[in-house]
Amino acid sequence: MRALHVPSAGEKPRIGDLPVPAVTDGTVLIRVRAAGLNPMDNAIAGGWLAGLIPHEYPLVLGRDAAGVVAAVGAGVDHVKPGDEVFGHVVLAPPIQAGTLAEYALLPAAAVALKPAGLDFVRAAALPLAAAAATQAVDAVDPRPGHTVLVSGASGGIGSFAIQLLAARGVTVIATGTDAARLTGLGATAVVDRAAGPIAEQVRAAHPDGVDALVNLFGRTDADVPLGAVRRGGRVSTLAQAPDSEAGAAAGVTVTKIMTRATREVTGPIAERAAAGSIAVDVQTVLSLEQAVDGLATIAAGHARGKTVVTIEH
Ligand SMILES: NC(=O)c1ccc[n+]([C@@H]2O[C@H](COP(=O)([O-])OP(=O)(O)OC[C@H]3O[C@@H](n4cnc5c(N)ncnc54)[C@H](OP(=O)(O)O)[C@@H]3O)[C@@H](O)[C@H]2O)c1
Repeated sequence: MRALHVPSAGEKPRIGDLPVPAVTDGTVLIRVRAAGLNPMDNAIAGGWLAGLIPHEYPLVLGRDAAGVVAAVGAGVDHVKPGDEVFGHVVLAPPIQAGTLAEYALLPAAAVALKPAGLDFVRAAALPLAAAAATQAVDAVDPRPGHTVLVSGASGGIGSFAIQLLAARGVTVIATGTDAARLTGLGATAVVDRAAGPIAEQVRAAHPDGVDALVNLFGRTDADVPLGAVRRGGRVSTLAQAPDSEAGAAAGVTVTKIMTRATREVTGPIAERAAAGSIAVDVQTVLSLEQAVDGLATIAAGHARGKTVVTIEH
C-alpha cells in the first residue's frame, strides 16, 4: 500500500510501498478514504516523542482517518467489514501505525460508525481536534453569560472550541487574523496578536478579566495570556504551558488536558456535525503527495481550521 512514512529514525517522511497491516485482537483495519492532519504528526515525524514512547520503523504518519472497514480483529463487534467509520490511532507503544496510507490499523476503542450525513473528509477532520476541544471546554465548564478567551483559536481545535463554547451561551473571544471565519464559527470578538499582547488587548475591553481561558498555544508561560483571566477564573491547556505554579501566581486554576479520542467522545460530536449543529471547519484538502506541505504549514504555526488528505485507491 502507498503510505507517507518515516523509513527510519531521523529520516524525512516519504511516500512508498509498505505491506498492508494485519488485524490483531481489538483492532480494525480500514481502507482509508481521508486522513486528518494534526500537530502531533509533526512531533511523531520528528521523533520528538521517542524518549517517552518507543517508535518502530518504518513508521506511518497520521492519526485521524475515515474510511471503510476492511477487516476486524477478535473481540471487535461494534463494526464489521463494509461499514463506513472514522477513528483515531490512540497514542500507545509502539508508535508505528498511521493513517496517511491506503490502509490503516486503528484500535477498536477509537473507531466509531460514521454518520451517513457526514462525508469522509469531514469525518477524518474530527477525531483528535474535536475530542481535545470537548475536553478543554468541559474542563473550564463555563456558564451561560460567561466570557471565555480561546488562545490559538485559528487552528483545528480552535474551530471546534469556539463553537462548543458559543453553544453553551458563552461570549467567545478568539485569537487570530481571519476574523470573518472566526466570528462565523461563533466568536464575538477576535484579537489579532500582531496588534499587541493578547492579555492587554483583552483587558482593554474587559477590565475585570475574562472568566476562563481555553489555551491552545504556548511552549512557555510567557506565551500564555494568563493576565486576561480574572482572579478565581479557570484555565484549561492543551499546550505545554502554563503549569499550575504559573496559574497559582495569577490566581487561576489550570487543568492540563491529555486527550483521549475514543469513540465515546468522538461519536456524539460526529452526530452533532451530521445534524448540522456543529460545523467541521475543513479549510484545506490535499492529496497524499501534498500531505508534507500541509504538515509544514501546521509546523510553521499557520494552520487555518482543519487540513485533510484524501487517499486515492
Ligand atoms: N494535550 C493534548 O492532548 C493535545 C491534543 C491535541 C493537540 N494538542 C496541542 O494543542 C495545540 C493546538 O492544536 P491544533 O490542532 O489546534 O493546532 P493547529 O491547527 O496547528 O493550530 C494552532 C494555531 O495556533 C496559532 N498560533 C500560532 N502562534 C501563536 C501564538 N503565539 N499565540 C496564539 N496562537 C498562536 C496559529 O494561528 P495564528 O497564527 O493565526 O494565531 C494556529 O492556527 C497544539 O500545540 C497541539 O500539539 C494537545
